[in-house]
Amino acid sequence: MRVIIVDTPEEVARTAARRVARAIDRARLVRAVGDRGRAATAHGHADAPTAVLGVATGSSPLGTYRELGRLARAGEVDLSGVAAFALDEYVSLDAAHPESYHAVIRRTVTEELGLDPGLVQVPDGTAADLEAACERYERAIAEAGGVDLQILGIGTNGHIGFNEPDDHFSKGTHCVDLTESTIQANSRLFDSIDDVPRQAYTMGTQTIMYARMILVVANGEAKAQAVHDMCYGPVTPACPASILQLHTNCVVVADEAALSLCE
Ligand code: F6R
Repeated sequence: MRVIIVDTPEEVARTAARRVARAIDRARLVRAVGDRGRAATAHGHADAPTAVLGVATGSSPLGTYRELGRLARAGEVDLSGVAAFALDEYVSLDAAHPESYHAVIRRTVTEELGLDPGLVQVPDGTAADLEAACERYERAIAEAGGVDLQILGIGTNGHIGFNEPDDHFSKGTHCVDLTESTIQANSRLFDSIDDVPRQAYTMGTQTIMYARMILVVANGEAKAQAVHDMCYGPVTPACPASILQLHTNCVVVADEAALSLCE
């Protein structure tokens, strides 16, 4: 795990966006000649994605998405043919609800980066058969040739996606009951805490760990304990993000406040 410390949230966004751009360039080259592109083409995608991003919602990566959009408009990175898979989605929240992750990803990722909406997928929060929806999502990721770069935020309790502290690490995309602290944190986006969904779909910890590269962005003092435990604590499902220490290509970009408990 490589930790990059920068002064401000703005610098986090610039540094992270440049790294995303480099990872997309690299994936485009590798996919043009390698197995990933062939895997996606073999699954019937006439236009196999040029690169595949895993994308988090939440406030942490917003500046990174904005900066990446700016780089694309300035011609400094080519985002054509880039596919994206959202990390998670609330269960039972209509895709048209402004706080559904369908809507949030459309506003902050698809539109901001100018991606082809047909290449952006979010778990189906309203599917009748939850398990089948999770399996479909995992299959879609595999058929796209896997995730080249997963962008993550981290919860104050160390969660990644909606993989909450537990006594075991989760595997594939699955449905979870949200913890009170997550419901509380997300209530700022809803009219009242009673409107916050109690369940969500999330890529599993294993799905996240399969990404070829992982980039975690973190800002602010509220994340300091979680960032410390992620980077330097024991690897334990009590802090789901701590498993990222075992990933072979994980970069954390954080500001001084978020790293204030790390020596
Ligand atoms: C978002 C997600 C969550 C957030 C985390 C941090 O898709 O899966 O794990 O990344 O809760 O949220 P913010 O960035 O709002 O502090």
